[in-house]
Amino acid sequence: MCDEKIKVIQILAISGSLRAASSNTALLRAAISLASQGVEITLYNGLGDLPHFNPDLERTEIPSVKDIRTQLQISDGVLISSPEYAHGIPGVLKNALDWVVGSGELYRKPVALINASSRGIHAQASLREILRTMDAHIINEASITIPLSSNQIDETDIISDSKISSALHNSIVTFVSAIGTFRAEIP
Ligand SMILES: Cc1cc2nc3c(=O)[nH]c(=O)nc-3n(C[C@H](O)[C@H](O)[C@H](O)COP(=O)(O)O)c2cc1C
Repeated sequence: MCDEKIKVIQILAISGSLRAASSNTALLRAAISLASQGVEITLYNGLGDLPHFNPDLERTEIPSVKDIRTQLQISDGVLISSPEYAHGIPGVLKNALDWVVGSGELYRKPVALINASSRGIHAQASLREILRTMDAHIINEASITIPLSSNQIDETDIISDSKISSALHNSIVTFVSAIGTFRAEIP
């Protein structure tokens, strides 16, 4: 009997939207359902609980801050889907990223970006620049734009669209493969 444990790839999914009916969160929920065996995608749900970033508090024990740092640390990769607000990324997402600039949980962390709108080009460019500055490892081949139509409002609608679910599934497969390659290359 083989009792060798198969390593599960852990991916933390972060939506930049706090909206209950968020299309970005729906895309991530669909990704969770479409993930293959051996891949566990967890939706981070603490974005709205983080206090405003304050460098004076960076080293104090704040449970919500500790939580996102731990969740990022234990993940093999991070999947982000974010809306664009006024040509930028949502303040709540920038706030979360600011909390981990100094602590470094995104340093060399593989990250894939999903864009739920073909119009949100400024936020995507800004998010890439922020992540590059933090030395995250953006996996371009797994980063995709999936423009949702107005009637695709939850993950069931998304999954039932074969073109979208196939694109999303391929993105996850590519992401997981890139995580493996990146790991193997690290000395
Ligand atoms: C305050 C506000 C500002 C927005 N600004 C932009 C923008 O600059 N460019 C854009 O393409 N969409 C903009 N949008 C549209 C959102 O990005 C879009 O509705 C997105 O799908 C919302 O994501 P969600 O469904 O995950 O909440 C804005 C929406 C809001 C509420």
